[in-house]
Amino acid sequence: ATAGQVIKCKAAVCWGPKQPLTIEEIEVAPPKRHEVRVKIVATGICRSDDHVLSGALSLKFPVILGHEAAGVVESVGEGVTKFKPGDKVIPLFVPQCRECRCCKNPESNLCYKNDIGKYEGVLLDKTSRFTCKGKPICNFISTSTFTEYTVMDEIAVAKIHDDAPLEKVCLIGCGFSTGYGSAVNIGKVKPGSTCAVFGLGGVGLSVVIGCKVAGASRIIGIDLNSDKFAKAMECGATECINPKDHNIPIHEVLAKMTDDGVDYAFEVIGNTSVMTSALQSSHFGCGKTVIVGLAPSTAVMSFDPLLILTGRILTGAVFGGWKSKDDVPKLVCDYLDKKFDLDPLITHYMPFEKINEGFELLRNGKSIRTILTF
Ligand code: APR
Ligand code: ZN
Repeated sequence: ATAGQVIKCKAAVCWGPKQPLTIEEIEVAPPKRHEVRVKIVATGICRSDDHVLSGALSLKFPVILGHEAAGVVESVGEGVTKFKPGDKVIPLFVPQCRECRCCKNPESNLCYKNDIGKYEGVLLDKTSRFTCKGKPICNFISTSTFTEYTVMDEIAVAKIHDDAPLEKVCLIGCGFSTGYGSAVNIGKVKPGSTCAVFGLGGVGLSVVIGCKVAGASRIIGIDLNSDKFAKAMECGATECINPKDHNIPIHEVLAKMTDDGVDYAFEVIGNTSVMTSALQSSHFGCGKTVIVGLAPSTAVMSFDPLLILTGRILTGAVFGGWKSKDDVPKLVCDYLDKKFDLDPLITHYMPFEKINEGFELLRNGKSIRTILTF
């Protein structure tokens, strides 16, 4: 009944950094050619959304944030054949066009048609479908999910299994897949190995889950907040350490614990000095360091190149290296087959209107993932 029409609905609009989001009535235009309009059912609050609110990531305002979600197709634009109203879907902040140089490379999961780093705040046709109080509102990294309805390019949407519980699998849209894939696809963690995971938020815990599924025998969690340790152990960490409890640099602590360095180190905070610590913690000749955290726009990492010359590998990936449109539906099936659990990551459910409280919980270190439902 709403197909082809402008939908008026509620959205959390971000008018600028360092101010609360406001719940506004917005208008969502119908999907254009090769676009899909989706009713969002559940959306997680991720640290990357908060990076915009804190001012660490600069982009165009006003904007509707949110990129970790699941929903149901409301209507489709012209030329869309792979989606129909009622399909369960997950938005893809890294789209997969299947035509660009990266998409054609089986080793890469980026797509030239992504908006990360560019932050143009528009769909592929260079406009957004949102307006509020007569003003256009920008799109966020091809998705924008802090709204009852959103419009996305069809290359930025994955159709998932009908049985998927949307209020859980929304985490496959970002945090879980980013962490899990960083361990299994990018680190390629081997059975019997020793891993160090710096940062035990939702993404870090997902790295821990990935290391465990890959068969690591030691998984050392590192966090400045020791309250994060119990959950990390529940997800598969074998020991946890707090840098505040030591008066020597953390890489020296790890060297002592691991016969001179770990096989795999993961930075899951977005702090360039911790990235260097992770690199220093990895064993010479064979250690691999994976950058998972998103550093502030202007941050620069510096380290002694001898660390690399002596055989350490430094790498990274967005979205855990998954080719989004191909792999998200498979991850949802793996979840339904109980290959991994998402429950340990979910600490809070809240109605959408309480979104600012959800962000407060994240900033205070009180939550792992808060999932907002509509
Ligand atoms: N050393 C150790 N731990 C730290 C440090 C530090 N210097 N600084 C922060 N931490 C811990 C925090 O206490 C917190 O538990 O890192 C954790 C980060 O978790 P969250 O803030 O919940 O972030 P998360 O959602 O897991 O995302 C982590 O991955 O995708 C990116 O943008 C995301 O950069 C972010 C990172
Ligand atoms: Zn592409």
